[in-house]
Amino acid sequence: MASAAREQWSSRTGFVLAAVGSAVGLGNMWRFSYMTAEKGGAAFVALYLLLTLMVGLPVLVAELIVGRGSGRSPILALAHYGGQRWRALGGVFVVAGFTILAYYSVIAGWTVRYALSAVATGYPENPGDYFGEVSSGWDAFGFHLAFMALTVGVVAGGVKRGIERVSLVMMPLLFVLVVGIAVYASTLSGAGDGYRYYLNLDVANVLDLDVLVDAASQAFFSLSLGMGAMLTFASYLPRDHDLPKEAGMIAGADMGVAFVAGLMVFPLIFALGLSEDVGGSTLGALFVTLPKAFASMGEAGRIVGVAFFMALVVGALTSAMSLLEVVVSSAIDTLGWTRRRAALVLGGAIALVGTPAAWNLGVLDLMDQVANNVLLLGGGLALAIFTGWVVQDPSREFHAGAGGWRGYAGWYFVLRFIAPVILFAVFCIGAWRTLVNLVAFATG
Ligand code: PHE
Repeated sequence: MASAAREQWSSRTGFVLAAVGSAVGLGNMWRFSYMTAEKGGAAFVALYLLLTLMVGLPVLVAELIVGRGSGRSPILALAHYGGQRWRALGGVFVVAGFTILAYYSVIAGWTVRYALSAVATGYPENPGDYFGEVSSGWDAFGFHLAFMALTVGVVAGGVKRGIERVSLVMMPLLFVLVVGIAVYASTLSGAGDGYRYYLNLDVANVLDLDVLVDAASQAFFSLSLGMGAMLTFASYLPRDHDLPKEAGMIAGADMGVAFVAGLMVFPLIFALGLSEDVGGSTLGALFVTLPKAFASMGEAGRIVGVAFFMALVVGALTSAMSLLEVVVSSAIDTLGWTRRRAALVLGGAIALVGTPAAWNLGVLDLMDQVANNVLLLGGGLALAIFTGWVVQDPSREFHAGAGGWRGYAGWYFVLRFIAPVILFAVFCIGAWRTLVNLVAFATG
């Protein structure tokens, strides 16, 4: 194949920031906050952190190994190590990337709109109605298309000149924005209630199976795992990268930003006495409650609000790039398309698939559930089994560039025995729950 001429990242920082860019996105800020609110606060946070370390991180290392070791996009990478019948799993990855980007881009479109309108006109009188108007219909559709066009533009530019360059500029900006807002939020009176809500652990919730499933799918979504995004990025890596170490940096940054996002969202909401609004949180809560908070903060609110929605846009864009890259690189490798053609045609197709989500929040929510509870958890399970049981001697790839680091045995054990068991359990429960919800949706 064309692997001899395959593009590579130009620097270590470039790769790490691009991978962190993939991981850090709406998942860390929008999804993490609303799931935390919906699932009762700290218990969800604790399970999410635990599962990221115990299952997410080992699977991330596995994706990096399969990606770099094969130097190919997902379908061919799996065939490279496992033979032709594993191509199907690569196909599932591509479908997952397609599905996630389709609705992700709709939400990203909202964030673009909120960022722009915060600059232009400040916040609406009645954020609830406003969200209702702009979150579905022609408005949402228009911003969804605009966001997809932006993503296509970057990915068409290539790995180095598109994805890496954008990540190098955007990710530091995002860190500064998020930390700055969290520091500002800590100065508000009443912030303490927000912290308490966010960080006070209720043990009964930790033992709740439902919360466990959501925490697992959040861990996978947030780390961009289970659909070949990290695998694809790693396929552009030279062999001198220390994969376990870089995986640790990526996971650390991802958890860090999610955690800090909570430190910014909850104090803001509680300081302004809007906690009622979060109680039965839904997918739109952030877009209703936070503008209320910003509006009541006067001029400062305007600035903080613009910064907040800008951070969301930046995070969404760098994540969307990686989702599209999975689909595009697969078309380049398996169909022999040019990058520009693949980005345009497939980006267009994804925009089309996302259209129903731009018209109906219920559809958007279902796409999110199917993607996370079924595709990502199932994909992660299959990839753990694949790397743990099918790939012969992953230690070569594990150690190339990693020097004499000896965590190998522990990693391999977790990947073979622990991760599959946990993933199998959460996948079964998650898939069943999703099926029930799908049937309920279909039968009205
Ligand atoms: N990790 C991204 C986020 O947190 C979403 C994503 C999922 C990106 C899967 C790529 C693959 O927003």
